[in-house]
Amino acid sequence: GEVRKTTNIVCTISNDMGEEPTYVGIPISEIMKDYTMGDVISLLWFKTLFPKWATKFIELVLVTAADHGPCVSGAHNTIVAARAGKDLISSLCSGLLTIGPRFGGAVDAAAINFKRACDSQIPPDEFVESLKKKGQRVEGIGHRIKTAENRDKRVELLANYAKQHFPEMGTFLYAKKVEEYTLQKANNLVLNIDGAIGSLFADMLKGVGKYSDSEVMEVLELGGLNGLFTLSRSIGFIGHALDQKRMKQPLYRHPWDDVLYAEPERPSRLANG
Ligand code: ACO
Ligand code: LMR
Repeated sequence: GEVRKTTNIVCTISNDMGEEPTYVGIPISEIMKDYTMGDVISLLWFKTLFPKWATKFIELVLVTAADHGPCVSGAHNTIVAARAGKDLISSLCSGLLTIGPRFGGAVDAAAINFKRACDSQIPPDEFVESLKKKGQRVEGIGHRIKTAENRDKRVELLANYAKQHFPEMGTFLYAKKVEEYTLQKANNLVLNIDGAIGSLFADMLKGVGKYSDSEVMEVLELGGLNGLFTLSRSIGFIGHALDQKRMKQPLYRHPWDDVLYAEPERPSRLANG
């Protein structure tokens, strides 16, 4: 009989072979009628169709994290690249490359760490101190401009939505207890937007009723949540690149008086060898 050649690639999320593309088996003509962007993310990222309250939450995350002004590291990079005459994609990529453990890329680790500690009922102070002993920061805690007196409104708004719609909020409430403890150490060690998205997303996954706690951890370990921040903030970065182009802003050069020039004494060549 006929032997099918082995394929190099396996794809389980979409198909472009038929008359119209499908996302996890659903033709896009149907998707266009009744489905939202949150539903599409649910399908293509998590291969499942979350309930409406959950896909609405995904959309609220996209809206909430889309921009935080021109001064954040990614928007700044985007602006500098756009002003150097780079095209939109390059300017966007320049911004995206700053997303990492300090900026916007702490969502996955925050979700995993808060959920693991919460499920294992580790007291929040012990959780923080054990990370400190290992020389690690608490992912999802800390902000450059947000403080105990000037909390991040976005965190409150997302939590308010969750209070109204989520079946459970255990991981988020645990993260808030961690914040209570870290705020005793320093005023800016607030629960930040990465930490809020991560902990709420862990609760959302549990709340949809499909996964056990260990299966929620498996989904989180895929690392998709930093993608959520990245997707969202791309909207802002593109906005900043277009903003600069529209205004025909010239090449950016950082002002001298904002740099402390601290060259050491001229070294003499080492004698050895
Ligand atoms: N956990 C424990 N200690 C912390 C944390 C944290 N998350 N953040 C800051 N500290 C401590 C530092 O150890 C430092 O103490 P040290 O000087 O004795 O080492 C002190 O607070 C000041 O640290 P800085 O780096 O100066 O604080 P900064 O305000 O610059 O840091 C930042 C802000 C980068 C967000 C930091 O809090 C951090 O790394 N947080 C964890 C990662 C994270 O959640 N990033 C996402 C931020 S939100 C976003 O980008 C959308
Ligand atoms: C944020 O959205 O909080 C980030 O862009 C970090 C910042 O410095 O504002």
